[in-house]
Amino acid sequence: MHHSEATRDIFIAGLRNAHAMESQALAVIDTQLGRLESYPEMISMLQQHRHETEGQIARLDQIFEGLGESASTFKDTAMSAMGSMQAMGHALAGDEILKNHMADYMFEHFEIAAYTSLITMAQSMGHSSALPLLQQNLAEEQRFQQMLLDSLPAVTEKFLQRTASGQKADV
Ligand SMILES: [Fe+2]
Repeated sequence: MHHSEATRDIFIAGLRNAHAMESQALAVIDTQLGRLESYPEMISMLQQHRHETEGQIARLDQIFEGLGESASTFKDTAMSAMGSMQAMGHALAGDEILKNHMADYMFEHFEIAAYTSLITMAQSMGHSSALPLLQQNLAEEQRFQQMLLDSLPAVTEKFLQRTASGQKADV
């Protein structure tokens, strides 16, 4: 299958979007970490995924380097601002912890879809050196998504208990 410059541009654009998406993820995580008080288990889960996200960005940078390209600072900055606003959007909700948890779970779906599409492009276009890097990012998103779903019942129970006993429950 012949691939033109146009398809290469699509791959580069997809990688830049993924890089900006991870900048958004960092901003969401940092905003949530800055507000959390009563859920240390969520703090450590988010800290762990923050660390993973930094590694994911480094892998995307490595792919760019191999292609002689770079990420888009403009897109990164714009999506980072979007991430902060997004996470603050639940600040007035009485159940901020649950809304953030569900939004994080939804965001992981988006990330999984983005990497699935990029992996297909890399396979189709023969960018074999990018594959293991994208696959590792995908695997981390899938693991974190599962962790979010698995932890939701306990977080929900804790939210109910703290609310019932008059303790701070929203974050
Ligand atoms: Fe990510």
